[in-house]
Amino acid sequence: MLERSPVLAVPGEVGTARRHDSAPKHVSGEATYIDDIVAPAGLLHACLGLADRAHANIVALDLDRVRAAPGVVLVLTADDIPGANDVTPVTGHHDEPVFATDKVTFHGQPLFAVVARTRDAARRAARLAEAIYVDLPPVLDVAAARTAGAGYVTAGMTLTRGDAPAALAAAPRRIKGRVTIGGQDHFYLEGQVALAIPGEDGDVLVHASTQHPTEVQHMVARVLGVPFGAVTVEVRRMGGGFGGKETQGNLFAAVAALAATKLCRPVKIRPDRDDDMIATGKRHDFVIDYEIGHDDEGRILAVEATYAARCGHSADLSGPVTDRALFHADNCYFIPDVHLSSEPWRTNTVSNTAFRGFGAPQGMVGAERFIDEIAYATGRDPLDIRLLNLYGQGGAGDVRSITPYHQTVEDNIAPELIAELERRSQYRARRAAIRAWNAQSRVLKRGIALTPVKFGMSFTATQYNQAGALVHVYTDGSVQLNHAGTEMGQGLHVKVAQVVAGALGIGIDAVAITATSTGKVPNTSATAASSGSDLNGMAALDACETIKARLAAFAAGHWGVDPAAVAFLPGRVRVGTEEVAFADLVCAAYGARVQLSATGFYRTPKIHWDRTSGRGHPFYYFAYGAACAEVVVDTLTGEYRVERADILHDVGRSLNPAVDRGQIEGGFIQGMGWLTTEELWWDGQGRLRTHAPATYKIPVASDRPRVFNVDLFEGENRENTIGRSKGVGEPPLMLGISVLHALSDAVASVADHSLCPRLDTPATPERVLFAVQALRERAGP
Ligand code: MTE
Ligand code: HPA
Repeated sequence: MLERSPVLAVPGEVGTARRHDSAPKHVSGEATYIDDIVAPAGLLHACLGLADRAHANIVALDLDRVRAAPGVVLVLTADDIPGANDVTPVTGHHDEPVFATDKVTFHGQPLFAVVARTRDAARRAARLAEAIYVDLPPVLDVAAARTAGAGYVTAGMTLTRGDAPAALAAAPRRIKGRVTIGGQDHFYLEGQVALAIPGEDGDVLVHASTQHPTEVQHMVARVLGVPFGAVTVEVRRMGGGFGGKETQGNLFAAVAALAATKLCRPVKIRPDRDDDMIATGKRHDFVIDYEIGHDDEGRILAVEATYAARCGHSADLSGPVTDRALFHADNCYFIPDVHLSSEPWRTNTVSNTAFRGFGAPQGMVGAERFIDEIAYATGRDPLDIRLLNLYGQGGAGDVRSITPYHQTVEDNIAPELIAELERRSQYRARRAAIRAWNAQSRVLKRGIALTPVKFGMSFTATQYNQAGALVHVYTDGSVQLNHAGTEMGQGLHVKVAQVVAGALGIGIDAVAITATSTGKVPNTSATAASSGSDLNGMAALDACETIKARLAAFAAGHWGVDPAAVAFLPGRVRVGTEEVAFADLVCAAYGARVQLSATGFYRTPKIHWDRTSGRGHPFYYFAYGAACAEVVVDTLTGEYRVERADILHDVGRSLNPAVDRGQIEGGFIQGMGWLTTEELWWDGQGRLRTHAPATYKIPVASDRPRVFNVDLFEGENRENTIGRSKGVGEPPLMLGISVLHALSDAVASVADHSLCPRLDTPATPERVLFAVQALRERAGP
């Protein structure tokens, strides 16, 4: 395992703004997604039959009409499962059946699957089931769960430092409030899909659209009742995952594999968009109740808060998601006395899951609300309150650097980063100009806000912070690269290929990127927590270093020089005073029977976490960023537009500035969509009514800020990460919070900024209009 990151042989390759390896194929349509794989002979299609009750006992399930429908080959229920009727992710719970048996716990829960000759025949047949239920009262949201005492899906967590109740009691000023934060559908362009191909002796190959091939392998094996080794899961790419394919692909893969092994024929399952949205989990919606104590200047003295989440009918990843909300309840701010607790409520809705940010965005929305509350209470610019409350920069020994989980912030660059963005965006001058403009504009009102981000990097479950890689060098000098990470559009593969090319001193075109496969790199973690390049980049580098050490030892012996006199240069290798082409060295080494293939491994150092005591060092480092957004709101309709956004984001020393910029732009827009237009709405019977693009509005190209300035913050990771870079996948999503606060600023202008608008999310035009009206009423004539 690598302890130190060696200097890369070709530093020029790492850090180059290379385009995504599949970019031309993405736009031309040539990139192969699972539904594009040439249909294997005898392919059949599966479709799920979904429950149309949120909470009910199943009295009878009559599938005769389904079986008799044209084209139907097989109908599967829980009785057909040879192993366990259980696709619960690795959480220690067993609460996620493949098919419900006697009880339905959410509307859209799978009851059975039908396999037919065509996808259309399977979909039509699935609708013919007749179920008889005895309805039970559904618990649909946090408020109802509290009233009903519905209980938690998993244990809550508490983070405490100091004595928050005493500090609140002693604080010169106190504010109590609540913020309600909506959920979000992943809206990946490629939906859930799996294609299972049966092999010999009960083996099965599953092409799955998943961020977690190893977990799919385990789930398929559990359902089939076979050893893990009988199942191979392969992922070339996903058309977006965003956390929605961390656990949610398990069931689809298990159903395809079950049908394929029963019938000895390939089976594909690809739900339509509506079923996908109804039957798969989403971002958790939260209700945060807070009490803040602060001084007259606006310095935070104490916070007590509860973070209640609608988790749905099962645990899934709700434990770590709600934990991460607490880990980010501070955002960039020091809270001297603090008490935070999570409430992961059980509800009769689909089981909520990972989504880019994984609870941190909800925690940060709370933190930024605390700041706004104090700003309005003291009559100061929210940015000044932010600056006043930032963590210290003294590291160990600085009392203002300790987080609520007792980890010291040692890499705080937020003050410099925010100052730089304040200057670049001309925040102060524009804020003054907006105030003047609003004074003469009766209907249209502008708003501006600058909000920061601090995101903790690492899986909080320490064991997931490991990765493996497999590198083969062929005798012509070309390379095949395989690693534990999956490609979902984020550009992981090109970054890791750059690391390999840089390490070996070869052109990136000589590095072939191959599909992620449990058969090549086993026992992998989900590609999640923004850790893909940190973990897999290091593991691939480790494999390259092994091969280089073998080549150097061979070259030294062959040419009679010291191994230290062997240097890997761009396209060639210096051996003493001579230079040889990389391919020639490799070929000669093969002749001398030198192994040209190696595995690599990496585990993140320095991290530990004890959930029971709420103490530890869960994050290897933090990634920072800040965004300044300006909006204009029509106060007669609530409609708005984002006029401008300026972003400065910290990726350490970028592995690939082009890819990183794409992540920042996309993350910001996705965060903005979450907080503004994307509304999930369940009716009183627990039916999701916003289950297609006609009713669920994601941002489109025309919603992008009119002026959009995105820059990378100059710097490098102080920790020894791959190329001194930082993970970039999730943190930029939280830059979208600036839009919410810009809207809040515009709304506040209707009451002369005397009252905190307390805008809940998603801040749809409707909600913005209500906030304008409520503020006018509160402000009086
Ligand atoms: N970018 C694209 N284009 N598509 C995605 O699905 N997922 C995000 C982020 N960026 C995603 C994306 C999420 S949820 C994570 S955790 C990271 O990418 C995962 O990749 P990384 O760890 O390699 O950054
Ligand atoms: N993001 C952050 N932390 C996590 C994730 C994720 O997707 N999955 C597990 N821990």
